[in-house]
Amino acid sequence: MSTELSSRLAAAPVVPLIGENDPAVAVKTAEALAEGGLSVIEVVMRSDAAQQGMEAIIAETEGLIVGAGTVLTVDQAKSVRDSGAQFIVSPGLVDEIAVYCRDEGIPFFPGTMTAGEVQRAYALGLREVKFFPASLAGGVPMLKALGSVFREMRFMPTGGVSASNLAEFLALDHVLACGGSWLTPSEAIERGDYGAITKLASEAVAIANG
Ligand code: 3PG
Repeated sequence: MSTELSSRLAAAPVVPLIGENDPAVAVKTAEALAEGGLSVIEVVMRSDAAQQGMEAIIAETEGLIVGAGTVLTVDQAKSVRDSGAQFIVSPGLVDEIAVYCRDEGIPFFPGTMTAGEVQRAYALGLREVKFFPASLAGGVPMLKALGSVFREMRFMPTGGVSASNLAEFLALDHVLACGGSWLTPSEAIERGDYGAITKLASEAVAIANG
């Protein structure tokens, strides 16, 4: 992981997910998150325009570290990399993407939820993985169990994380950061209420510092 990404996550260990179809809305959402203190943002590739949204955020904002999530294939990884993604997140572990990211020197967080998957990631040289879907995969107790075995691994729980359980996840030493969509609720975005997003981001930062 780059030093910059690592120090940003140490300061505010929360990675909000943006999944907008409209690039202009994606930019406003990213700005609202940054205003609340979150500067590492994952844009999920779950709609046709998601990549354009990520490109717009990269082009039109300053000081953010922007990554691509829901990257399913190595071709998609190459494409988001070409568009400027500074890290890549996948829901699962595909060796080919891990090798590509390693060769390119781009941080990669593949989803893992079993000891076998974490061990495969470890064997591929990865020391940071996503733990997904965090709440359904056993939550904090499961992460404690995985952390006690894989002592060098750091985890990014995502999936079912919210303001109500963020502190519990972040209390674990081997949790690098938590990711989630609770910071970018579609109702607020539809209303154009970016202040609500800034408030959620500030609240997450306060919990993380708490
Ligand atoms: C992900 O892509 O990591 C998850 O879909 C996020 O899950 P959440 O919506 O519960 O935060």
